[in-house]
Parts: sequence; C-alpha cells; structure tokens
Amino acid sequence: MQRAKITGIAHYVPSNVLTNKDLEKMVDTNDEWIVSRTGIKERRILEKGKGTSYMGVLAAQRALEVAGVKPEELDLIVVATVTPDMMFPSTATIIQDKIGAKNAWGVDVNGACTGFLYATAMATQFIESGRYKKVLVVGADKMSAITDYTDRNTCILFGDAAGAIVLEPSEDPEIGILDFILKSDGSGGKYLYMLGGGSLHPANHETVEKKMHYIYQDGRTVFKFAVEGMAKITEEIVKKHNISPEEIKLFVPHQANKRIIDATARRLKLDEEKVLINIDRYGNTTAATIPMGLSEAFSEGRIKPGDLILLAAFGAGFTFGSMVLRWAI
Ligand code: UT7
Repeated sequence: MQRAKITGIAHYVPSNVLTNKDLEKMVDTNDEWIVSRTGIKERRILEKGKGTSYMGVLAAQRALEVAGVKPEELDLIVVATVTPDMMFPSTATIIQDKIGAKNAWGVDVNGACTGFLYATAMATQFIESGRYKKVLVVGADKMSAITDYTDRNTCILFGDAAGAIVLEPSEDPEIGILDFILKSDGSGGKYLYMLGGGSLHPANHETVEKKMHYIYQDGRTVFKFAVEGMAKITEEIVKKHNISPEEIKLFVPHQANKRIIDATARRLKLDEEKVLINIDRYGNTTAATIPMGLSEAFSEGRIKPGDLILLAAFGAGFTFGSMVLRWAI
C-alpha cells in the first residue's frame, strides 16, 4: 500500500479582527469571561459579499504553490465545510472553477468540526489505492454567516478561516498519513445544530423570525461530550500505535475551547509546547482549525520532515476523530 503525504499546506484568514472588547459592545459579555471560559481573545470576520470559497481559493492556491502542483494536475478536490457558499453547487466545484483545476472533480463533506479529518481520510484512500496522484483538501468555514451576534452563548466562539493541503503518494512508507480513527454519534445532534435552510425547514419568514438560520448550541452538554470524546479517540489511536508522549512532536487539536484542549493534552501527558493553540487569535473556525494550525506550525518551522504529528477533533453530530502522520516537507 502506498501512503499519502502532505506536500503542500497553507491557510487564509480575513484581515478584519473582532475582539472581545468589540463583543462587549454588542452583547452582555466581557473579555475576562470569554478568555477564562474559552481562551479566545479575538477572531477574524470575512466581509459581506464573500463566501467560504473566497477563503478556500486563497488557501488552496498557496498550498498548491508550496507543493509545486499546477491546478490542472489535480485529480480531486474535497472541501470540508458547514458553511458552503450555497446549498448547491458544492463549494468544491466553485473552488475547482476559480483555481482552474479543470481535470479534477470536487465534492463537499459535511463533518462539522471533524470535517477536515473526514475529508483528509477520504482523500487519503484515493492516493493509497493508487487511483489518484494529486488531491486537494480544503477545510473552510465562514461561521460569521450563521452566527447570531445578539446571542452571547455562541457569538463569542466562532470565526472565519480556511486551510488547505495537497496530498500526493509517499515514496517512503514511514512518511505520510499513518492512520486515523473516525466516529460519529448521531444521538448528539440535538445539542448543536442549525435548523433552518435545509429540506426540513426551508427558508421562509417564520424560519427567519425564529432565528433558525443561526447556530444553536447547548454549550454545557457539548463541552462534557467534547472533553470525553476528544480524549478517548486520541488515546485510542496513541495506544493502537504504542506512541509515547515523547515521540509526539506536535498535537494539533480542533480549537473549540482551550479548556477542552488542555484536558485532552493532560490525558495524553503532553507538555504545553507540544500542543498547538491558536484559538486565542482565531476562535473556533470549524473545518479550518486543524489545517490552519498545521499550516502555522509549518510556516513557523515548528515541524520538520519525519516529525510525528497527532490530530484530533470533536464537533456537531456528534462527530469525532483522530489521525497520526509523519510530516513530509
Ligand atoms: O466545535 C464544536 C464543538 N463545540 C464545543 O466543543 C463547545 C463546547 N462548549 C463550550 O466550549 C462551553 O460550554 C462554552 C464556552 C460554550 C460555555 O462555557 P461554560 O463554562 O459551559 O458556560 P455555561 O454555558 O455553563 O454558562 C455559565 C454562565 C451562565 O450564567 P448562569 O446561568 O451561571 O448565571 C451563562 O448565562 O455564564 C453565562 N454566559 C456568559 N457570560 C458572559 C454564557 N455566555 C456568556 C458570555 N459572557 N458570552
């Protein structure tokens, strides 16, 4: 079996910053509460008139440059998002058109905060089977488009961003995506969702009046499940491969809440410097958190070829997953 390795990576965040101080003027909240309960200080907001594909394109183009891959060489584009530009066509096909990947086909994956791991796992199969040579995976979300900025329970949490990777076959069997464990538990769907706009509750005056086009989250319940779910699924993959904390160069977890990340890192006995945290600057950007974290680590020289990297996520669905890889570039 041929492994898939990441040969290109990049991310994009909008320049517009929304700070905790700004939010204090919008809802009954304060910087101290937000920082102590979530670890978030600010987040980025994409301007009106631009959709998720705008960010996905910029991240994708940069990732292709890093990989030295031309858009027309791509076989497949998989986009993880819960905020597609529109219901259809898929954001993947929109990105395909905008970057000129005329020989690829594209598909969206809705795995919420675990979306990037789901999408990467799916893309990996096409490389491992030998069917495809060059696959682009994008994790991108414009969460501000579905956030109610009068609801202090949710509006402090989310931000907009995109991350992208290029996957290619690995000549070295030790390098690349080594394994993943993916799960979902649909009984958790009632704790985190957006009701309106789908076939069950198509948009109308009533759905708008009832604010059904915004995120609803029972934060306390999701928090409990997330702490347990993230820890369990990361422990499972670490035990399966007999990986010691010393062997892990970097743990890149989904950035939903610093307290969830800290709890998972404690369970894994990982020192602080081995855990990527950027939630303070970007908040929860759903499918973008993991590729963006990896991309930052790469551009800062924090990860080198051969380093063992652990990824983990938990999100709406519930969905959860973990992945181990050896860095290639
Ligand atoms: O990425 C997808 C998965 N999502 C997650 O993993 C998110 C999981 N959940 C969380 O991260 C946390 O539950 C939150 C950050 C959303 C909330 O933190 P919490 O510590 O669970 O707070 P809480 O909801 O239990 O609220 C505690 C108090 C409440 O007041 P009372 O009832 O104790 O008087 C809230 O009304 O804090 C109040 N509160 C706020 N106060 C100031 C809620 N939001 C705010 C706010 N500012 N923004």
